[in-house]
Amino acid sequence: MSVQIIVGAQWGDEGKGKIVDHLSEQVDIVARYQGGANAGHTVVIPGKKGKPDQEYILHLIPSGIFHKHVKCVIGNGVVLDPVALMSEIEQLKKSGIKIEGRLFISHNAHLIMPYHKLLDTAREQGIDKIGTTGRGIGPAYIDKYMRTGIRVVDLLDREVLCKKLKRNIEASNELLTKVYHTDIADVDKIIQEYQEFDKKIDPYIKDTAAFLNDALKKKKRILAEGAQGALLDIDFGTYPYVTSSNPTSGGACTGLGIPPTAVDSIIGVVKAYSTRVGNGPFPTEQENELGALLRQQGGEYGATTGRPRRCGWLDLFSLKYSVRVNGIEKLAITKLDVLDNLDAIKVCVGYKLGKKTLTHFPTDAQTLDKVKPIYETFKGWKTQTSDVRKYQQLPREARRYLEAICSYTGTRLWMVSVGARRDQTLIVK
Ligand code: IMP
Ligand code: MG
Repeated sequence: MSVQIIVGAQWGDEGKGKIVDHLSEQVDIVARYQGGANAGHTVVIPGKKGKPDQEYILHLIPSGIFHKHVKCVIGNGVVLDPVALMSEIEQLKKSGIKIEGRLFISHNAHLIMPYHKLLDTAREQGIDKIGTTGRGIGPAYIDKYMRTGIRVVDLLDREVLCKKLKRNIEASNELLTKVYHTDIADVDKIIQEYQEFDKKIDPYIKDTAAFLNDALKKKKRILAEGAQGALLDIDFGTYPYVTSSNPTSGGACTGLGIPPTAVDSIIGVVKAYSTRVGNGPFPTEQENELGALLRQQGGEYGATTGRPRRCGWLDLFSLKYSVRVNGIEKLAITKLDVLDNLDAIKVCVGYKLGKKTLTHFPTDAQTLDKVKPIYETFKGWKTQTSDVRKYQQLPREARRYLEAICSYTGTRLWMVSVGARRDQTLIVK
């Protein structure tokens, strides 16, 4: 059995795309198991024969697509926006990447429709904003769990599709007009547009759970690619400021239809500091010059929405929680180079709530809003690390910082990333 799961250990944007791209060399299949086009996975591909490097931002297609031998799966746990998918396919094809015969989409994945995006945006006009990406994720999962969702397989049956679409658009329009007093979706236009997807999407549709289990029998290696991060998990994240799926490792089994017994290892990706996009508690946030510096040095702007990311110190207390919830054994620590110029680096090692020191990470927003981080300070290394290629060549202070992260969380340091390029990757034996 050979499934590795890659999870984001913070609030997303840890650099999973790069790590998945790296690991793709050694696997046969890369599979996305949850979320949708809210994700933005950045992969930098080295330019051939002196040409400049090329940066790709993937929202739906797994980051393994850049390796010819890899097959990619969009699992049943994903909510799929056919418009976003087609534009991503076109963009990749233009760059000479072969998609047909390499990308398989679960017939059971739910579809994101234009009215989901309208509902997402309308809800965000109220006072209790989550700060969503506006991609219709929450409303699509609502339909799934309401048992009224439209799935990929429905695209292939025009009659069924029209019936379900009509019912759902009418229901959404009721909400949009009566509750949110906003624009409504055009029934005929949507029916017309989405009927056209049958032929376009047909070559990619598969019973991906059967495909993955067959592959396991044939001893193929599978990489399950999580989107977002553990602290955005609908069950384990900082609810209600979360996404509507399970980015944590358990989600890989339900989102792909593979048994837990097939999973060999879980790799957590964590940034050397913290960021968060959207609203919700962020105890180590630095709304000051330091936060601005991290944002500028780290290029911390949303890959999907372009929003500036909130930045702060690394929070080991929440990371330890994330390690437990996911069962993370190995850590990939990214963007170490962003800290290169700092004299001192703080990490949060616990929370105080009034006079009390907390023993567990609280996930309710009310408590998290009130906690005060307890910091430990590390000496900065003040040396450029982006050209370092071997772990042992990193400055001693940097190694001390990295090793402290692993020792606190009870994990093994497996990889360090010092830049976006493929060669800026240090494997720690
Ligand atoms: P939604 O997933 O669009 O519903 O957004 C819910 C919350 O998750 C918001 O705070 C978003 O900013 C955040 N979020 C969703 N996807 C990502 C991601 O890929 N990276 C970082 N934050 C995300
Ligand atoms: Mg991202």
